[in-house]
Amino acid sequence: MRKPLIAANWKMHKIISEIEDYIRKFISLVDKNFDREIVLCVPFTGLYIAGKLLFGSNIKLGAQNMYIEEKGAYTGEISPVMLKDVGCNYVILGHSERRKYFNETDEFVNKKVLTAIKFGLIPIVCIGETLQEREQNKTFEVLERQVRGSLANLNTLDAEKIVIAYEPVWAIGTGKNATPQQAQEAQQFIRQKYAELYGSIVAEKVRILYGGSITPENFKGIMSQKDVDGGLVGGASLDPESFYKIVMFDK
Ligand code: PGA
Repeated sequence: MRKPLIAANWKMHKIISEIEDYIRKFISLVDKNFDREIVLCVPFTGLYIAGKLLFGSNIKLGAQNMYIEEKGAYTGEISPVMLKDVGCNYVILGHSERRKYFNETDEFVNKKVLTAIKFGLIPIVCIGETLQEREQNKTFEVLERQVRGSLANLNTLDAEKIVIAYEPVWAIGTGKNATPQQAQEAQQFIRQKYAELYGSIVAEKVRILYGGSITPENFKGIMSQKDVDGGLVGGASLDPESFYKIVMFDK
Protein backbone atom coordinates (compact mmCIF):
# COMPACT_ATOMS: atom_id res chain seq x y z
CA MET A 1 0.00 0.00 0.00
CA ARG A 2 1.27 3.42 -0.93
CA LYS A 3 0.80 5.99 1.83
CA PRO A 4 -0.96 9.12 0.49
CA LEU A 5 1.23 12.21 0.36
CA ILE A 6 -0.25 15.68 0.13
CA ALA A 7 2.20 18.52 -0.42
CA ALA A 8 1.59 22.25 -0.38
CA ASN A 9 3.56 24.31 -2.90
CA TRP A 10 3.35 27.88 -1.70
CA LYS A 11 5.50 29.16 -4.60
CA MET A 12 6.59 32.80 -4.07
CA HIS A 13 4.05 33.55 -1.34
CA LYS A 14 4.15 34.40 2.38
CA ILE A 15 6.46 36.43 4.59
CA ILE A 16 7.58 35.27 8.03
CA SER A 17 4.60 36.60 9.99
CA GLU A 18 2.18 34.90 7.58
CA ILE A 19 4.10 31.65 7.82
CA GLU A 20 3.96 31.72 11.61
CA ASP A 21 0.20 32.32 11.59
CA TYR A 22 -0.41 29.62 9.00
CA ILE A 23 1.64 26.92 10.72
CA ARG A 24 0.20 27.56 14.18
CA LYS A 25 -3.30 27.32 12.75
CA PHE A 26 -2.54 24.29 10.59
CA ILE A 27 -0.92 22.32 13.42
CA SER A 28 -3.98 22.97 15.57
CA LEU A 29 -6.15 21.42 12.85
CA VAL A 30 -4.10 18.33 12.04
CA ASP A 31 -4.56 15.20 14.09
CA LYS A 32 -1.37 13.75 15.60
CA ASN A 33 -1.82 10.13 14.58
CA PHE A 34 -2.07 10.57 10.93
CA ASP A 35 -2.35 7.95 8.23
CA ARG A 36 -1.05 10.22 5.48
CA GLU A 37 2.03 12.28 4.89
CA ILE A 38 1.81 16.07 4.77
CA VAL A 39 4.56 18.30 3.42
CA LEU A 40 4.74 22.10 3.37
CA CYS A 41 7.01 23.41 0.60
CA VAL A 42 7.88 26.87 1.81
CA PRO A 43 9.89 29.66 0.11
CA PHE A 44 13.57 29.71 1.07
CA THR A 45 13.32 32.71 3.40
CA GLY A 46 10.64 30.98 5.47
CA LEU A 47 12.25 27.54 5.78
CA TYR A 48 14.13 28.21 9.01
CA ILE A 49 11.15 29.48 10.96
CA ALA A 50 8.86 26.87 9.41
CA GLY A 51 11.33 24.13 10.41
CA LYS A 52 11.31 25.38 14.00
CA LEU A 53 7.53 25.57 14.17
CA LEU A 54 7.02 22.14 12.59
CA PHE A 55 9.61 20.41 14.78
CA GLY A 56 7.96 17.63 16.76
CA SER A 57 4.83 17.62 14.59
CA ASN A 58 4.11 15.01 11.95
CA ILE A 59 4.14 17.61 9.19
CA LYS A 60 7.26 17.58 7.03
CA LEU A 61 9.14 20.47 5.51
CA GLY A 62 10.10 20.84 1.86
CA ALA A 63 11.84 23.38 -0.37
CA GLN A 64 10.81 24.33 -3.89
CA ASN A 65 14.19 24.17 -5.63
CA MET A 66 17.84 23.43 -5.02
CA TYR A 67 21.21 23.67 -6.76
CA ILE A 68 23.33 20.70 -7.85
CA GLU A 69 26.42 21.42 -5.74
CA GLU A 70 27.11 21.04 -2.05
CA LYS A 71 28.80 24.47 -1.78
CA GLY A 72 30.89 26.89 -3.78
CA ALA A 73 30.88 30.06 -5.86
CA TYR A 74 27.30 29.95 -7.13
CA THR A 75 25.93 33.36 -6.19
CA GLY A 76 22.27 33.23 -5.27
CA GLU A 77 21.94 29.44 -5.16
CA ILE A 78 20.92 27.17 -2.27
CA SER A 79 22.56 23.79 -1.66
CA PRO A 80 21.07 20.50 -0.43
CA VAL A 81 23.20 20.75 2.72
CA MET A 82 21.60 24.10 3.53
CA LEU A 83 18.14 22.61 3.05
CA LYS A 84 18.93 19.71 5.37
CA ASP A 85 20.34 22.18 7.88
CA VAL A 86 16.99 23.97 8.22
CA GLY A 87 15.07 20.72 8.57
CA CYS A 88 13.90 19.90 5.03
CA ASN A 89 13.01 16.31 4.18
CA TYR A 90 11.67 17.02 0.71
CA VAL A 91 12.46 19.24 -2.27
CA ILE A 92 10.32 19.96 -5.33
CA LEU A 93 12.44 19.64 -8.47
CA GLY A 94 11.71 20.39 -12.13
CA HIS A 95 8.45 22.24 -11.54
CA SER A 96 7.04 23.45 -14.86
CA GLU A 97 7.49 27.07 -13.77
CA ARG A 98 11.21 26.39 -13.37
CA ARG A 99 11.35 24.58 -16.68
CA LYS A 100 9.53 27.47 -18.37
CA TYR A 101 10.98 30.61 -16.75
CA PHE A 102 14.44 29.32 -15.83
CA ASN A 103 15.02 26.96 -18.76
CA GLU A 104 15.55 23.84 -16.66
CA THR A 105 16.02 20.77 -18.83
CA ASP A 106 15.41 17.11 -18.03
CA GLU A 107 19.17 16.61 -17.87
CA PHE A 108 19.59 19.40 -15.30
CA VAL A 109 16.60 18.20 -13.30
CA ASN A 110 18.11 14.73 -13.27
CA LYS A 111 21.36 16.11 -11.84
CA LYS A 112 19.34 17.81 -9.12
CA VAL A 113 17.44 14.61 -8.36
CA LEU A 114 20.66 12.62 -7.95
CA THR A 115 22.20 15.36 -5.78
CA ALA A 116 19.12 15.62 -3.57
CA ILE A 117 19.19 11.88 -2.93
CA LYS A 118 22.92 11.94 -2.22
CA PHE A 119 22.33 14.45 0.56
CA GLY A 120 19.31 12.71 2.06
CA LEU A 121 16.47 14.76 0.59
CA ILE A 122 13.46 13.16 -1.09
CA PRO A 123 12.80 14.82 -4.43
CA ILE A 124 9.27 15.51 -5.64
CA VAL A 125 9.94 15.51 -9.36
CA CYS A 126 7.41 17.32 -11.55
CA ILE A 127 6.55 16.33 -15.09
CA GLY A 128 3.62 17.14 -17.36
CA GLU A 129 2.59 18.24 -20.83
CA THR A 130 1.57 21.70 -22.05
CA LEU A 131 -1.82 22.39 -23.62
CA GLN A 132 -0.27 22.53 -27.05
CA GLU A 133 1.40 19.15 -26.55
CA ARG A 134 -1.88 17.63 -25.38
CA GLU A 135 -3.76 19.07 -28.34
CA GLN A 136 -1.15 17.65 -30.68
CA ASN A 137 -1.57 14.22 -29.07
CA LYS A 138 1.96 14.33 -27.74
CA THR A 139 1.12 13.82 -24.05
CA PHE A 140 2.53 10.30 -23.79
CA GLU A 141 5.58 11.12 -25.85
CA VAL A 142 6.38 14.09 -23.59
CA LEU A 143 5.77 12.12 -20.39
CA GLU A 144 7.99 9.28 -21.57
CA ARG A 145 10.78 11.70 -22.45
CA GLN A 146 10.49 13.43 -19.07
CA VAL A 147 10.44 10.17 -17.12
CA ARG A 148 13.47 8.81 -18.97
CA GLY A 149 15.29 12.14 -18.82
CA SER A 150 14.53 13.49 -15.34
CA LEU A 151 14.46 10.17 -13.52
CA ALA A 152 17.49 8.42 -15.02
CA ASN A 153 20.33 6.61 -13.22
CA LEU A 154 18.70 5.94 -9.85
CA ASN A 155 19.49 2.81 -7.89
CA THR A 156 16.57 0.57 -7.03
CA LEU A 157 16.28 1.68 -3.42
CA ASP A 158 16.25 5.38 -4.31
CA ALA A 159 13.90 4.77 -7.23
CA GLU A 160 11.31 3.53 -4.72
CA LYS A 161 11.72 6.47 -2.39
CA ILE A 162 11.39 9.42 -4.74
CA VAL A 163 8.04 11.04 -5.45
CA ILE A 164 6.78 11.88 -8.94
CA ALA A 165 4.22 14.63 -9.52
CA TYR A 166 2.16 14.60 -12.70
CA GLU A 167 1.27 18.23 -13.28
CA PRO A 168 -0.29 18.98 -16.65
CA VAL A 169 0.89 22.53 -17.35
CA TRP A 170 -2.54 23.56 -18.65
CA ALA A 171 -4.06 22.72 -15.27
CA ILE A 172 -1.63 24.70 -13.10
CA GLY A 173 -3.13 27.85 -11.65
CA THR A 174 -5.84 27.90 -14.30
CA GLY A 175 -8.81 26.53 -12.36
CA LYS A 176 -9.04 23.83 -15.05
CA ASN A 177 -8.08 20.60 -13.32
CA ALA A 178 -7.57 17.33 -15.15
CA THR A 179 -10.51 14.97 -14.81
CA PRO A 180 -9.94 11.94 -12.60
CA GLN A 181 -9.81 9.84 -15.79
CA GLN A 182 -7.22 12.08 -17.43
CA ALA A 183 -5.07 11.95 -14.30
CA GLN A 184 -5.40 8.18 -14.08
CA GLU A 185 -4.57 7.63 -17.74
CA ALA A 186 -1.41 9.76 -17.53
CA GLN A 187 -0.30 8.40 -14.17
CA GLN A 188 -0.79 4.78 -15.17
CA PHE A 189 1.37 5.50 -18.19
CA ILE A 190 4.05 7.14 -16.01
CA ARG A 191 4.07 4.09 -13.73
CA GLN A 192 4.44 1.79 -16.76
CA LYS A 193 7.40 3.79 -18.06
CA TYR A 194 8.92 3.81 -14.59
CA ALA A 195 8.54 0.02 -14.50
CA GLU A 196 10.46 -0.20 -17.77
CA LEU A 197 13.32 1.67 -16.09
CA TYR A 198 13.33 0.10 -12.63
CA GLY A 199 11.07 -2.96 -12.70
CA SER A 200 7.47 -3.44 -11.70
CA ILE A 201 8.11 -3.96 -7.97
CA VAL A 202 9.73 -0.53 -7.71
CA ALA A 203 7.07 1.06 -9.91
CA GLU A 204 4.32 -0.34 -7.67
CA LYS A 205 5.96 1.31 -4.67
CA VAL A 206 6.72 4.76 -6.07
CA ARG A 207 4.21 7.46 -5.24
CA ILE A 208 2.79 9.52 -8.08
CA LEU A 209 0.98 12.71 -7.10
CA TYR A 210 -1.40 14.73 -9.22
CA GLY A 211 -1.06 18.52 -9.33
CA GLY A 212 -2.99 21.29 -11.08
CA SER A 213 -5.94 23.30 -9.73
CA ILE A 214 -6.67 20.89 -6.87
CA THR A 215 -9.46 22.17 -4.60
CA PRO A 216 -11.24 20.74 -1.55
CA GLU A 217 -14.13 20.02 -3.93
CA ASN A 218 -12.34 18.10 -6.67
CA PHE A 219 -9.61 16.24 -4.79
CA LYS A 220 -11.66 13.28 -3.57
CA GLY A 221 -12.59 12.32 -7.14
CA ILE A 222 -9.00 12.60 -8.29
CA MET A 223 -7.79 10.52 -5.33
CA SER A 224 -10.27 7.76 -6.15
CA GLN A 225 -8.05 6.73 -9.05
CA LYS A 226 -5.76 3.73 -8.71
CA ASP A 227 -2.53 5.42 -9.75
CA VAL A 228 -3.06 8.71 -7.92
CA ASP A 229 -1.22 8.59 -4.59
CA GLY A 230 -1.59 12.16 -3.45
CA GLY A 231 -1.51 15.77 -4.54
CA LEU A 232 0.77 18.74 -5.04
CA VAL A 233 -1.34 21.75 -4.24
CA GLY A 234 -0.58 25.36 -5.18
CA GLY A 235 -3.25 28.06 -4.83
CA ALA A 236 -5.59 26.07 -2.58
CA SER A 237 -2.79 25.37 -0.10
CA LEU A 238 -2.27 29.04 0.76
CA ASP A 239 -5.11 29.04 3.25
CA PRO A 240 -4.66 26.56 6.14
CA GLU A 241 -8.33 25.59 6.32
CA SER A 242 -8.58 24.98 2.61
CA PHE A 243 -5.39 22.89 2.64
CA TYR A 244 -6.62 20.99 5.68
CA LYS A 245 -9.82 20.08 3.83
CA ILE A 246 -7.73 18.78 0.94
CA VAL A 247 -5.55 16.73 3.29
CA MET A 248 -8.73 15.26 4.83
CA PHE A 249 -10.28 14.56 1.41
CA ASP A 250 -11.84 11.23 2.40
CA LYS A 251 -13.01 12.04 5.93
P1 PGA B 1 -2.15 25.05 -8.50
O1 PGA B 1 -0.55 24.76 -8.59
O2 PGA B 1 -2.70 24.09 -7.48
O3 PGA B 1 -2.25 26.48 -8.09
O4 PGA B 1 -2.69 24.79 -9.87
C1 PGA B 1 -0.04 23.47 -8.50
C2 PGA B 1 1.45 23.48 -8.69
O5 PGA B 1 1.96 24.27 -9.50
O6 PGA B 1 2.19 22.72 -8.03
